[in-house]
Amino acid sequence: MSDPILSVHHLSIDYGYEEDATHAVTDVSFTLGRGEFLGLAGESGCGKSTLAYGVANILRNPANIVSGEILYHGGNAAPINILALSGAALRAFRWNELAIVFQSAMNALNPVLSLRAQIRDIFTTHRPQMSRKEIDQRAVELLQMVGIASDRLRSFPHELSGGMRQRAGIALALALNPDIIIMDEPTTALDVVAQREILSEMIRLRQNLQFSVIFITHDLSLLLELADNVAIMYAGRIVEYGDRRNVYAHARHPYSYGLLHSFPPLRGPAKKVYGIAGSPPDLRALPQGCAFHPRCPMAFADCQSALPILKAADPAIPAQHAACHLYDAARRAEPPTEEDIAAAYSVNAKRRGMRV
Ligand SMILES: Nc1ncnc2c1ncn2[C@@H]1O[C@H](COP(=O)(O)OP(=O)(O)OP(=O)(O)O)[C@@H](O)[C@H]1O
Ligand SMILES: [Mg+2]
Repeated sequence: MSDPILSVHHLSIDYGYEEDATHAVTDVSFTLGRGEFLGLAGESGCGKSTLAYGVANILRNPANIVSGEILYHGGNAAPINILALSGAALRAFRWNELAIVFQSAMNALNPVLSLRAQIRDIFTTHRPQMSRKEIDQRAVELLQMVGIASDRLRSFPHELSGGMRQRAGIALALALNPDIIIMDEPTTALDVVAQREILSEMIRLRQNLQFSVIFITHDLSLLLELADNVAIMYAGRIVEYGDRRNVYAHARHPYSYGLLHSFPPLRGPAKKVYGIAGSPPDLRALPQGCAFHPRCPMAFADCQSALPILKAADPAIPAQHAACHLYDAARRAEPPTEEDIAAAYSVNAKRRGMRV
């Protein structure tokens, strides 16, 4: 791991309280390196957005942080505890050090202001020493950076295409040169061509400007092409984490394996598509043990009673972690091979009447 810019320690976030609480994020820890592109994937409702907004400390009632610490490691100063920031300090942090590109750029952009006015707003608030001329120059530069012609500065959000709005959202996020950019499904609403263009652009910008990215998507295939590391969430927890190449070549957790075999590969030899039976659990009443066990074709008795922790599944790849009892030598003598997992999924799919 390169020098960390952000570290998240045992973060748990609920919506609501006590027996009504939805446990959207549970005991999540990870580190984001300086310049790293971290992909966060998982089915709808598994807690990706809650985790991202928790990291940015922008969650509001009924969300509540149950436990955890989020440290920003900027420069030589002591780390900043993001959860302890509030008011003006939090607002300044949110533009200067960390910025978010939301799923729907329409919601992030102000519908009654032109792009120029929105960019000016950011600078007059956070860089009061800058002259109007300097700000307008920077506005042109920002739009150029994301591939929008500068005559669009006069446009209002409704005058832009979906792709351009998303690019404008990215330009605003980049305005103050933050160290971390969180992108929550920024391209889901776009066609695949626009999606890829914007992502390639992000990768290029990241190389030039050296920011780190947490990129959230349902589309694991995108991450397997673009991310450095991938974290896969299930029912509020990270169940697998590792270098994207390792996760792609050898997914350890049966959930990751199932996700990877839920869509045909973009390149390389064809692989079987099994899908995952059933649906994610209710986050208000999680199953005992591993939350994935009711859907897992490899589950055994321990999975119903004991919670697996995230740790190296293979001593030869210590940086790839899985939260799964299959790799716990005290519970199972031999870890499964990929063929074992494939066979279990295949039996399961056939039982559901799929032709695999
Ligand atoms: N404001 C809220 N009040 C109550 N529950 C919420 C609220 N926002 C989210 N949740 C619940 O928290 C859980 C996690 O939601 P979250 O939006 O973080 O998931 P997600 O992984 O981002 O899903 P998606 O892929 O659909 O965007 C879900 O069960 C959701 O219903
Ligand atoms: Mg979401």
